[in-house]
Amino acid sequence: MSFAARLEAELEQFKRDGVYKRLNYLEAPQAARTKMQGRGDVVILSSNNYLGLCNAPEVVAAGKRALDQFGAGTGSVRFICGTFTIHRELEQALARFVGCESSLTYVSCWNANEGLVATLLGEQDIVISDQLNHASIIDAIRLAKTITKCQTAVYRHSDMSDLEDKLRAAQATKARLKLIFTDGVFSMEGDIAKLPDIVALARKYDAVVAVDDSHGTAVLGASGRGTAEHYGMLGQVDIITSTLGKALGGAAGGFTAGAAALADYLTQGSRPQLFSNALPPTVAGSALAAVQHVEHHPELVRRLHDHARYFRERLVALGFKPLPGETPIVPVILGETAKAIQMSELLLNEGVFVTGFGYPVVPQGHARIRCQLSAAHTRDDLDFALAAFKRVGASLGLI
Ligand SMILES: Cc1ncc(COP(=O)(O)O)c(C=O)c1O
Repeated sequence: MSFAARLEAELEQFKRDGVYKRLNYLEAPQAARTKMQGRGDVVILSSNNYLGLCNAPEVVAAGKRALDQFGAGTGSVRFICGTFTIHRELEQALARFVGCESSLTYVSCWNANEGLVATLLGEQDIVISDQLNHASIIDAIRLAKTITKCQTAVYRHSDMSDLEDKLRAAQATKARLKLIFTDGVFSMEGDIAKLPDIVALARKYDAVVAVDDSHGTAVLGASGRGTAEHYGMLGQVDIITSTLGKALGGAAGGFTAGAAALADYLTQGSRPQLFSNALPPTVAGSALAAVQHVEHHPELVRRLHDHARYFRERLVALGFKPLPGETPIVPVILGETAKAIQMSELLLNEGVFVTGFGYPVVPQGHARIRCQLSAAHTRDDLDFALAAFKRVGASLGLI
């Protein structure tokens, strides 16, 4: 069988198994409502555009200005070709925003995570990771293990006694650096890491805490500074990684923030930094404007929190059982993957775009519809979506 024929056969099998992902094409920007090819207007309930900044005029204009001022790109990696002043401005703004001394940007948070673990850890070190961490952390750890032979351990999701067991074991083997790595907000569950307990354990066992706050940055806390602000712990997390591809403009990019020495150290040795180009200036300009916008408009964050509370309460009143929580990620567990895909299709027929997730993204039997709220939604958008949930839920016998 030829290479292409083999791929085609496997793709056909994905279709038969009901796990084939069909792309939906949008003809207008990410917003509360957009235009989907072949569908017309739809309300989006499946975007990380938490504050509606993907198409905010200030964010788009800043990207255009940066394009005009700096051109399309860096032409090479930063230490070879020079680094633009807009990167420095963005990194200072991001560090200030998340309560750290310094930050370093990457073309994605995926790269930031990969660049972190393999650079900081060697054979004498251990990374201890939450079982439900994002794929980018899992792969970052696998890569680091291969490259540097660092030690690894996984603790049961948010189970502090299991984390303590792993820390105790690491202490017994005299691991030099013990790095606890957790998501701030777990993307498929919408729950928040137990940061106060994690930081207390880290202090007890002389460990370092890294939080990937991709779903927390510009989302959690009264002014959107993330999981640390949510718990009143700004400045107490050793390392924060996060994305620019969600609430902060939604284009692309990520960053690592921490002590001043951290950004410098990663600049020296982090492979995605040394061997891959910097953020395009237009993306850096848009992200900088997004950070400034959130700093000047904390009411957007309050609105997002209000929407999340309202939507969750109304879903429960309809008879659905969303996972409990307080973030704008509201998952409704349906069980089988086919059921989640079917519900997603029926909702799309009603003009609501929300994705169903099944195995292997979530464990077998835990397929779900994951709703995500945005400050850009109006109450009318939410009520429109809730009415669709009511009809579709009734037709599927879910409520
Ligand atoms: C927790 C977490 N980390 C990292 C990423 C990857 O971010 P990026 O798109 O910037 O690579 C995501 C995106 O889904 C995420 O949810």
